[in-house]
Amino acid sequence: MTASDEVAPRAVVRPDRTDAPTLGESSLAVHGGIELDSTRSLRTPLVMSNSFALPDDPSEISWSATAPGLYTRNTGVNQLALERKLSALEHGEDAVALASGVAALHAVFFTHVRAGDHVVVSDVVYEATWRLWTELLPGRYGIEATFVDVTDPDAVRAAIRPETRLVCVEAIANPTTKVADIALLAEIAHAAGALLMVDSTFTPPPFYRPLDDGADLVVHSLTKYINGHGDAMGGAVIGRAELIEPIKADAMVDVGGIISPFNAWMITRGSVTLPLRLRQHFASAQRVAELLEADPRVAFVAYPGLASHPQHDLARRQFGGAAYGGMMAFALDGDPDLQNRFVSELRLITSGFSLGHDDSLIVHTSADGPRTATYPEPFRRYGHLRLSVGLEDADDLLADLAAALDAAGR
Ligand SMILES: Cc1ncc(COP(=O)(O)O)c(C=O)c1O
Repeated sequence: MTASDEVAPRAVVRPDRTDAPTLGESSLAVHGGIELDSTRSLRTPLVMSNSFALPDDPSEISWSATAPGLYTRNTGVNQLALERKLSALEHGEDAVALASGVAALHAVFFTHVRAGDHVVVSDVVYEATWRLWTELLPGRYGIEATFVDVTDPDAVRAAIRPETRLVCVEAIANPTTKVADIALLAEIAHAAGALLMVDSTFTPPPFYRPLDDGADLVVHSLTKYINGHGDAMGGAVIGRAELIEPIKADAMVDVGGIISPFNAWMITRGSVTLPLRLRQHFASAQRVAELLEADPRVAFVAYPGLASHPQHDLARRQFGGAAYGGMMAFALDGDPDLQNRFVSELRLITSGFSLGHDDSLIVHTSADGPRTATYPEPFRRYGHLRLSVGLEDADDLLADLAAALDAAGR
């Protein structure tokens, strides 16, 4: 057999739902979306070339804007490999990988919402989503947004207008960990002729798959759990091909928010161990949340795996009852400087942005920090510490938190 012979795809997992469940979750993460190319290498080679040799006869060229083999802004080799993997992992028909999570969010809004449309947005969303919907898109493009508490279905129904095109939520919201009922919101959005977009960055597959519950578009910051190692940025949108193709044509080819081949290669590599990593993140997070909640110096802990969480029952039902994610927010009760002292006493957990990495990361936002007005009462009163529980040994994390609590309180 020569290198140019046709090569049958190896262990390709078709992203449609009838085929995907035939593999276990870890097998799917390893084999999902893999296709051998003419080099027969078991890993997709890193192709940094930004241009490809065209056929001599222009009539043989596919002029489709998103055809592979033209130019990397129109689709790169490693981007395609990552998109196939993400489609398999999320049970989606197609995916588009972009430069960052924010590029992916913007790509959905830019492509699927027009001047004069209206969107309904959760009142707790990631900072950039908030700014896009409070400042940039209404001010520049005349798209109105209404912010609602998405745990109140009547409020969501009341916010919908005839021109509502999109409902935009996070499955577990950053940073309050509010849980949205995706099946119910899909029903409400679809009854109004709107699309439901779920930012599932806190709830990656196989933990949760919003498309299986009726969402139309899933967004990920690949920078977080899916890459998992804190060394590449990326974002993705996954969903039906008819919704993804225009995102590729408009936001990728014409606006240019493509992912670099190197980042796509890195994220594909990281994604293979996602189910394995999530098990450790989530088991440790449950122990950390329980330790913090039992400590009288802790004012509150927001973590969906605690019975005290307002949407604990929904979380158990929606996420299958075995795990509740790796993200939590909490605060200490004491003088205003206590939380700063606590963070400075941590030895293993690092103060830093981002989440879903191998190392545990904590961010302190004071009570007068950005956007706290829509957060629940304890967040407004104490501020909060957002903790992304990493892959260190849980015992070491518990010891670090306990020691910092003792040292900060002295
Ligand atoms: C829920 C959520 N969505 C989107 C993003 C943006 O991702 P990126 O930093 O990759 O642009 C973040 C970043 O923290 C996030 O937490």
